Amino acid sequence: MSCRRSTSAFVAASLIAIATSSMVIAQTENKPSADEEKPYSIAADGTVDWSTFNGYRRYHASCHVCHGPDGLGSSFGPNLTDSLKTMPQEQFMEVVVNGKQDREKKMPALGTDRNVMCYINDIYAYLKARSDGAIGRGRPAKYGKKSEEAAQAEANCMGTD
Ligand code: HEC
Repeated sequence: MSCRRSTSAFVAASLIAIATSSMVIAQTENKPSADEEKPYSIAADGTVDWSTFNGYRRYHASCHVCHGPDGLGSSFGPNLTDSLKTMPQEQFMEVVVNGKQDREKKMPALGTDRNVMCYINDIYAYLKARSDGAIGRGRPAKYGKKSEEAAQAEANCMGTD
């Protein structure tokens, strides 16, 4: 029972993500990504919001192996701090969900991987902050508390509630 429910929560979360990205497409058509509202917030003393910190952790769990430490690329995968200077969020989402398999070095389709999709907005926030130069390399030293809302959304998506 709880398994069925959590699967539909996951599917719902994925559909919301897709719906949100098509809304973003509609709103920001032809506008560069710099016009998007910033997905991260960094206080004057360098404290990052929870989502950005979590994105740091999740990036290093799921993407680092191919895209290098701190988003900087490797001999296998491109530097995502460069990609996000021009790539809009909906295109980022599309590549993560469907992958890119037309070249020798392939980006896997991660759309059914909960360890990625349940945290994809956090991963995006982290990489965008890196791409904008708002945070440096390495683990953010100070970060905000995880909200009740974030804990609940995670439990719903991962099926652990
Ligand atoms: C198994 C290795 C591998 C993993 C794991 C991986 N990627 Fe990739 N990714 C690649 C490769 C290789 C490419 C380049 C594919 C191409 O251009 O044909 C790529 C391309 C991309 C692109 C497009 C970049 C551009 O400039 O076109 C994005 C965005 C991306 N990956 C995000 C991610 C994120 C986020 C994660 C973790 C959730 C991740 N990738 C995990 C190998 C990987």
